[in-house]
Amino acid sequence: MARVDLPKALLKPPSVIPPDEPLPYFHAVWKLLDNPIEAWPRAVYEEPYYLRGDERQMFLYAADPAMLKDILLDRMSAFPKDWMFDRVTKPALGEGLLTAQGEHWKWQRRAAAPGFRPDNVAAMTPAMVSAAEAALARWRDMGQGARLDIASEMTAITFQVILDTMLSGGEGIDVPAAAQRITDYLETLGKVTPADLFRLPLWTRVAMAPRGYRAMVWLKAMVDRMVARRRQEAERGDLVDLLLRAEDSETGRRMDDALLRDNLLTFIGAGHETTALALTWSLYLLGLDPEAAARVRAEVAAVAGDATITQEHVERLAFTRQVVQEAMRLYPSLPLMSRICAEDVEVGGLEVKKGTFVFIPVYAIHRHRRLWRDPDAFDPDRFGPAESAGRHRFAYLPFGGGPRVCIGQTFAMIEAVAVLATLVRGVTLEPDPGHRLRLLVRVSMRPQGGLPMTLRLR
Ligand code: HEM
Repeated sequence: MARVDLPKALLKPPSVIPPDEPLPYFHAVWKLLDNPIEAWPRAVYEEPYYLRGDERQMFLYAADPAMLKDILLDRMSAFPKDWMFDRVTKPALGEGLLTAQGEHWKWQRRAAAPGFRPDNVAAMTPAMVSAAEAALARWRDMGQGARLDIASEMTAITFQVILDTMLSGGEGIDVPAAAQRITDYLETLGKVTPADLFRLPLWTRVAMAPRGYRAMVWLKAMVDRMVARRRQEAERGDLVDLLLRAEDSETGRRMDDALLRDNLLTFIGAGHETTALALTWSLYLLGLDPEAAARVRAEVAAVAGDATITQEHVERLAFTRQVVQEAMRLYPSLPLMSRICAEDVEVGGLEVKKGTFVFIPVYAIHRHRRLWRDPDAFDPDRFGPAESAGRHRFAYLPFGGGPRVCIGQTFAMIEAVAVLATLVRGVTLEPDPGHRLRLLVRVSMRPQGGLPMTLRLR
């Protein structure tokens, strides 16, 4: 009898189980404060859009790629970043690139862009690989069977990379202390608080979170010291110099110390935690799917042999890149973007009223029933050339889209592939079978309490 090969069952890693119906009002408010992603009803994952609210306040969850293209690109001036986003981010990041709007955003984006040109970023690969190799050496010292919190291990790597590549090593920065302060800020002030719901003065939200406040003051002082030092020193050609020299060609405006600090904190904050999460989820998924891990290892061996990973290798590690892309689909580092509708406007065929809160639920878009085959399954092959070719650009938004797309996306992808290839070659990481994963949103989406994995040295 002929043997029939059944298609391999795909891995379905843990996910948020959406409520079938919208939560009752007070339950929804509580979820908004605790973990907003758990409040999104099933319709957000199934319908092109989902509207809720009343004449006082409407909320639109947009999932249709044509509508998203209108919001993020074609009609972007009608959809500025919203006041809730400002309240969560501005106390720490002020008027820097992530938070500024209009002309003030534009000139800062122009100023920072050369630092992220692909050729500049490609030259940073050796620093990324060294940080991964340093982690491997540390792990070897810890020995076979050690338990690691992969989330904090990845944060240590990506923090070092940001310092080494963008801030010339960041001397004077105490990396573990700074990483802890960033976590303190995100856990307390990096989410919507009751003070935001009632639009109480900004100082009240800060006053209610002394740990977050202290962390913010500490981080600002750390960057202020760096700026003061660098103003006295010779140029080094890094991002700090680029920003120090930047000038708005239209107004002649330059960055004062406060704006420089806002931007450096933005690049440190936006540039390491997000990439650390992409790596965390990639390693977690490879731990759950040893077959995919073996494919990555085989690819790395075929492309690089035993040599140190280089930029040229990174460009040829197609399957490894697909694993990162698939990890960012299932577990996007930034699972939610938001905007406010500033004028009555039509998007994707829908009339949206001025004042509507617009949510871009990236996590749900990436698992949307109408956009993805087998949406909850881990299948890096869906990012192969054949399947990617027909995909709408705005169906996959780990880095956002339109003019405000992540400035660091090339940097992040090179880093994630180079680090993953280096680590996977040296160790196998096994997930802890007893660990209950909860996805927690605090601006970024993190595994609550970290992600324990067991180390097997190769
Ligand atoms: C996997 C890693 C990363 C992810 C998933 C990510 C994601 C994003 C997303 C979704 C946005 C758009 C936010 C919005 O439109 O509301 C964004 C913007 C931004 N990202 Fe990233 N990012 C990553 C890495 C980086 C890195 C490495 C840097 C810098 C070194 C960086 C710096 C920024 C900045 C400055 C912005 C604001 C850009 C603007 O508004 O013009 N990001 N990022």
